[in-house]
Amino acid sequence: MPEQQYEVREVGEKRVLVVKASPPTVGPSIANYPETMRVVVKALMHNRVDAIVLSDVYERYYDGKQVKLLQEVALAAKKFKDAGLWSFSVVENMGKECAKVFKKEGTDLVKILHDLWLSDPVAAYVQTLGLIKRVAAKAEAAPQYKECATKLLKILKTVKAVMESTALIAKAKSYILRVGKIPKDRSLYSLLFQPQLKPSFVESRVLLAAEEDLEILDQYSVLDAEVFIYKHPDQVEPLYYLVPPEFSLPEQQYVVMEKTKELVSQYSPKSAILMHGSPGREQFLEIYEDTIRDVAKNLNVKLSSKDVRFLANILARHTVGYGLLELLLMDKRITDIYVDAPLGSKPVYLVHSEYGQCQSNVVLSADDALSLVSKFRAMSGRPFDESHPVLDYDLPDVSARVAVIGPPLSPDGIAFAFRLHKPTPWTLPQFIDNNMISPLGAGLLSFFIDSQATMLVAGSRGAGKTSLMTSLILEIPQNQRILTQEDTLEIPVEEISHLGFHIQRLKTKSPIAGGASGELPPEDALRTALRLGDSAIVIGEVRSKEAKVLYEAMRVGAAGSVVMGTIHGDSAYSVWDRVVNDLGVPTTSFKATDLVVVNAPIRFAGSLRRHRRTVAITEIRKHWNHDPVEEGGFLDLMRYAAKDDKLQLLEDNIKESDLFSKVMELRGLSYEQIWEEINARAFTKKYLVDLKRKHNVPELLEGTYTVPAHNKFLLLKEKSIEEHGSPDYDSVLDEWKTWVEEVLLKRVLARREAHGKHT
Ligand SMILES: Nc1ncnc2c1ncn2[C@@H]1O[C@H](COP(=O)(O)OP(=O)(O)OP(=O)(O)O)[C@@H](O)[C@H]1O
Ligand SMILES: [Mg+2]
Repeated sequence: MPEQQYEVREVGEKRVLVVKASPPTVGPSIANYPETMRVVVKALMHNRVDAIVLSDVYERYYDGKQVKLLQEVALAAKKFKDAGLWSFSVVENMGKECAKVFKKEGTDLVKILHDLWLSDPVAAYVQTLGLIKRVAAKAEAAPQYKECATKLLKILKTVKAVMESTALIAKAKSYILRVGKIPKDRSLYSLLFQPQLKPSFVESRVLLAAEEDLEILDQYSVLDAEVFIYKHPDQVEPLYYLVPPEFSLPEQQYVVMEKTKELVSQYSPKSAILMHGSPGREQFLEIYEDTIRDVAKNLNVKLSSKDVRFLANILARHTVGYGLLELLLMDKRITDIYVDAPLGSKPVYLVHSEYGQCQSNVVLSADDALSLVSKFRAMSGRPFDESHPVLDYDLPDVSARVAVIGPPLSPDGIAFAFRLHKPTPWTLPQFIDNNMISPLGAGLLSFFIDSQATMLVAGSRGAGKTSLMTSLILEIPQNQRILTQEDTLEIPVEEISHLGFHIQRLKTKSPIAGGASGELPPEDALRTALRLGDSAIVIGEVRSKEAKVLYEAMRVGAAGSVVMGTIHGDSAYSVWDRVVNDLGVPTTSFKATDLVVVNAPIRFAGSLRRHRRTVAITEIRKHWNHDPVEEGGFLDLMRYAAKDDKLQLLEDNIKESDLFSKVMELRGLSYEQIWEEINARAFTKKYLVDLKRKHNVPELLEGTYTVPAHNKFLLLKEKSIEEHGSPDYDSVLDEWKTWVEEVLLKRVLARREAHGKHT
């Protein structure tokens, strides 16, 4: 007998059976190697465990249902053993004659139960069925043995029943029924036993084995990893499969990595994370490359300088980076990443911009997750404990923000989520393109921004408030100064500034998460902002005392220009309720708001995917005093109609609008002129969307092009006013269209050419 091939370890709260693989017989897979399955089942006869690990160059990790399947097989084996069925005496005890007649069957039964059941339970079951048939046939042919045949059949039927009581056999039966034949190889086990894989220099695991019946929806690469999006026949959520290269390194390179990791681990920073591409990371890469080169030389492993760089990148990911999460953070098509409590037990969930919520194949180890959290705490300099169970923090070098929650708020323990920011600001044409808003809705908002209206963008969590507000910033005339104020920096101020806007940001202390020293509370910051003079004011999120200052300012006209903010709420009414009843703003001050724009995630009938939509543009009228609902203070100008999936104009309501009257008066425009202007703006945005679709050039809808297009429209309009006294929209739009096609579109195509981009 070889030395004990396994041990049981306590890892955290779990008992783990660790089996050392020793090919060629005990190979690193329960599914593929009968000997491996036997060792595991035998070990399980004496041990109850939560997980099984086969350790080789890589560790294969089996848990949950898979362990349960094998545990049941082991339990059945124990029953067979305890019932004496592992011994040849079963048949011997039936008497001499009988033993002679059924010798072959008796021997077969022992083989099946003692041997086959442990290494190939399905074959053991199938053979048992055959055995029952044979014994019955023999008894039929020789009635003198009926008595002992009955005894043997009774035993066999009990064996069959015990086998059938295991989920493994139940699953095998339904599989065989479905495919119509008994599998000749171990392919059935490959469907049931799919390990998660991890190299020992990596803590977290990924599930790699591809299941049958998965329909591939998409495939692309992120850095050196591959991403596959699958549709699972029985699951509503698509599967996001990440295949990182560290899970399939050649053995020699793997050994180099293991050794190098050991050497460099002690020198990596304990309280900081350096993202891929950051200058700090570059320094570590150089050190790692040198170390890898040395280690490889000592181990006599040949590596090209490309290999060295490739391995150094992987190592950096797992020592100074975000580990496997880094690849998710680098996937620009992901908008949210969720690591749920209890840590280490569930796969990472994510929201994909095209496929919605997906389950990933990544299981972050509890250690990895906790070490990230402690780094977030250290990097943010903010408290995170029982009395501060929320930590909100903008990650450096990644355009993402992390929110960590802990007990008592999260009773199952620490959990965290990343919100990945779109690298460029959203634009109204992009929102028209993905159906969030109608061209007319966009035209209307653009017009009121130009008319210096005050606006709140409302919606539930993640409804796209900040995104819509960002797109509205791009509608502010470029000669205005813009001040933004946020506690977590989400508005892409730098990009907006590159587009030619005069924009300045203020960062304030977070009211829920506390703040780094030196950060001003939002109400103080806003007072300062107002003193800075005539500027458009953009408040990231109105959620505390700054609301009072904001309304005071809007009321006395101190702002004197566009004022915007996002706020939680699903209607104008709930925004009013929140501002007045939660944030303590006097109800009549609320009238300083001109418009409330509401966004909502809409789920269409028959589909599980959520689509973000602007569902209402509501005017706050000025003639009421106490209760805006009773006194008709809310006037919907546009409302979403699910039937047409469109934001529609409520023409009768427009006639009652105070805002239209006010703008007519202030700007000396007629009602018709206002509509001409709104429609012209709607037209220009829609025109860009149509061009983008026609030429398949998504970049045309980025600020780089939409902002110049909007500026051109304003300029042509100005010129027309100079010439005719008032704008002649037909000729303005004609000229604008020619410019867009002749200049703007050509610019897009030329840049494509230069970058060698193909669609
Ligand atoms: N129309 C849209 N189509 C697709 N993705 C969108 C759309 N609008 C917003 N998003 C994306 O949805 C995510 C959430 O958007 P955003 O941060 O604007 O929501 P929010 O309502 O401000 O959320 P919060 O309540 O957390 O402040 C972002 O990743 C954003 O890029
Ligand atoms: Mg927001």
